[in-house]
Amino acid sequence: QPPKVLVFAGSAREGSLNKQLAKLAAQRIEALGGKATFVDLKAYPCPLFDEDIEAQGMPENVLKLREMLADHQALLIASPEYNGFITPLLKNTLDWLSRPYGDTPGLGLFAGKWAALVAASPGGLGGIRALPLGQQLLANLSLTVLPQPLSLPKAGSAFNDSGALHDDATGQKLDALCQRLVDALAATHAQ
Ligand code: FNR
Repeated sequence: QPPKVLVFAGSAREGSLNKQLAKLAAQRIEALGGKATFVDLKAYPCPLFDEDIEAQGMPENVLKLREMLADHQALLIASPEYNGFITPLLKNTLDWLSRPYGDTPGLGLFAGKWAALVAASPGGLGGIRALPLGQQLLANLSLTVLPQPLSLPKAGSAFNDSGALHDDATGQKLDALCQRLVDALAATHAQ
């Protein structure tokens, strides 16, 4: 099986700009010869992390997300910036995925895997304040984080009707990041 990238957004809302960016990234990874799966976190609501809930057994949706992560070798995450930080949805999801369970030790689902982070915002700064913080979190999880994360400012008017980006230069930056992820996977999973 070829290595695969799990792609999701740190926003659940229907009209999420970050979901749009995540879906586009998944398409671009496939176009560049990689394998990508987009997952909508709205379809897998997980409770706010609480060790009492965990002690009663992993919630069903956490188990489903854990199975998906186990089956992928890289993450590409598009997260909004909330008050200069990554979203509680993203932190909560990663916290659940970081926990030991069964034969898997803590952080075991992340070990040896790659991550890339992007951000979209309707504002002019594109979520740049949250990107280094998100990268730090991903590195704390023992993921190898690609440098040069992408931010998409003015994201409300950045996509055309078919979901591509109006601005070629930004599209090329997204492609470059996706290409680096595809190359990293090919290099580390070569026969
Ligand atoms: C925001 N938003 C925002 N935008 C930004 O560029 N910098 C910021 O610090 C914040 N802070 C912030 C806090 C909270 C609580 C909310 C709800 C929103 C606006 C945010 O970028 C906008 O709602 C995006 O559209 C959210 O991303 P999705 O859902 O479109 O992916």
